Amino acid sequence: MADRRDRPSVPAPHAAAPGRAVDIADLAALDALAIRLAAPARTGDTFALSGELGAGKTAFARAFIGALAKREGVPAPGDVPSPTFTLMQSYEIGALQLFHFDLYRLKSAEEALELGIEDACAEGIALIEWPDRLGRYLPSDRIDVRLAVTGESSRRAEIAAHGRTRERYGEFAA
Ligand SMILES: Nc1ncnc2c1ncn2[C@@H]1O[C@H](COP(=O)(O)OP(=O)(O)OP(=O)(O)O)[C@@H](O)[C@H]1O
Ligand SMILES: [Mg+2]
Repeated sequence: MADRRDRPSVPAPHAAAPGRAVDIADLAALDALAIRLAAPARTGDTFALSGELGAGKTAFARAFIGALAKREGVPAPGDVPSPTFTLMQSYEIGALQLFHFDLYRLKSAEEALELGIEDACAEGIALIEWPDRLGRYLPSDRIDVRLAVTGESSRRAEIAAHGRTRERYGEFAA
């Protein structure tokens, strides 16, 4: 009889969540996380920011944009508004393009294609709030950042790097 170790290794469907959880005490700790995630970021990276209304997705985007500007040695954009109604805001950070999406009001995944989300993900760094709205168009090479409220100023972030980002984001590899 075959030993169970002979069986091909297939992850159980309910295996422990991949990636890594980070407890965030306050906005300063959010900045610290953004610095860690911005450090290896490069063109073609997509960050899928999820979590309930007010979880801190836009706050994370602001911190990330600030961290990236610092890394590139350029001034941070003066204002990083929530793209609630514009659905997308774009930034030039040194030689990098950054696109910040808020897809909450998206009516269909196809509307995101009309917004140019595929080019944004390929030609820049994309930060996407409400990424579930993209359905099957969500890039498989991406870093998931799931935020949950744990207190007035505290949050829990679950970070999982998928596909080609796993190598550069080793500590968060899914
Ligand atoms: N540690 C923290 N991390 C993130 N946000 C925090 C933290 N502490 C306090 N906050 C506050 O929580 C609020 C988060 O709001 P934010 O607009 O970022 O949420 P959101 O997830 O983008 O919501 P929406 O789904 O409406 O876009 C902000 O007012 C922010 O200052
Ligand atoms: Mg937001």
